[in-house]
Amino acid sequence: MKTTTNQSLKSYNTFGIPVNAKQFIELQHKNDFRKVLQEHQDFLIIGGGSNILLLDDIKKTVLHINTKGKSVIGENRKFVFVKVEAGENWHDFVLWCLKKDFGGVENLAKIPGNVGASPIQNIGAYGVELKDVFDEAHTIEIATGETRVFTKSECNFGYRDSIFKNKHKGKYIITAVVFKLTKTNHTIHDSYGAIQNTLQKLNVENPTIQDIADTVIQIRSAKLPDPKEIGNSGSFFKNPKVSKEQFDVLQKEYPDIPSYIQNNKTDTESVIDNPEYKLAAGWLIDQCGLKGKRIGDAGVHENQALVLVNYGNATGKGILALAKIVQQKVKEKFDIELQMEVNLIT
Ligand code: EPU
Repeated sequence: MKTTTNQSLKSYNTFGIPVNAKQFIELQHKNDFRKVLQEHQDFLIIGGGSNILLLDDIKKTVLHINTKGKSVIGENRKFVFVKVEAGENWHDFVLWCLKKDFGGVENLAKIPGNVGASPIQNIGAYGVELKDVFDEAHTIEIATGETRVFTKSECNFGYRDSIFKNKHKGKYIITAVVFKLTKTNHTIHDSYGAIQNTLQKLNVENPTIQDIADTVIQIRSAKLPDPKEIGNSGSFFKNPKVSKEQFDVLQKEYPDIPSYIQNNKTDTESVIDNPEYKLAAGWLIDQCGLKGKRIGDAGVHENQALVLVNYGNATGKGILALAKIVQQKVKEKFDIELQMEVNLIT
């Protein structure tokens, strides 16, 4: 455990916003969680800092989770169970799985952030979500210091959603995640249009998990800015859901509007009666002519309008002001309220 004061958080958030933390504690060992809870109850937790927008200096104690370790804790003929400590970088974990030929996370290659945060918003990309490979979350309750293991069904996973964003928001720290990965006969998820196009271009007919990861890395690198070069936090907004009625009206006016039918109910319920449609927030923003818009150093990325960027010296408040303009324009043009995916921190 390492404590510093007046620590700049610039390198601890992928937007690169240079606010300061009055007190900053880095947790490096599993036992640090319990120790720190004996002294602190009210704090801001930062893992990879990839889903936050820092608006001001942080008066609360900041806990930076930097615990490391990956180990196989069980296996059977088909599956391997891997326990990963919360502070491991997500993409490093994906690369480690590929090296060992463990299947399941290849579509999630190159997502910024750390493993501990991955269940909170059920990270997802290219047809796969974290919940598809999730087995358990190991946690510690902030109020009591008691450990608790959450099974998959207890996590209530949904689109960019889990119990850790709702009922249990701010109550538990995720200390490690257990993944259930395939050892053989990997399931290949290549139905996503962009993956198929890229595989075709590369002349790959029977893709392996490594081919899928390479393809996803290529697609993401082409349209998503690398936070090491331009500060950003991935998708700034969630893709909105609309009713069938609203979708029909929109489709009449915009026949090319991209959409996905959304199963918003539990797996056992039918969705046929009243489907919802998920729309592409990036497309909506793009249609408003905002792609590439810049106010000072805050910008809407020029290749993917869903991503807001910091060209160097933007403040959190500057990025937020731009986000509000985006929300307002999309509301005016489409009567849709975009919700932020990124957490605003004051
Ligand atoms: N589009 C535009 N203009 C844009 C951006 C997108 O017209 O500026 C159109 C695209 O042409 C496409 C549609 O919108 O027809 C969807 O775009 P894309 O395939 O890029 O995916 P997305 O819906 O914008 C979501 C996730 C991404 C994830 C991709 C791939 C959310 C909020 N975002 O983006 O996740 O990588 O699908 O599965 O669900 C993240 O969460 O940080 C993230 C990058």
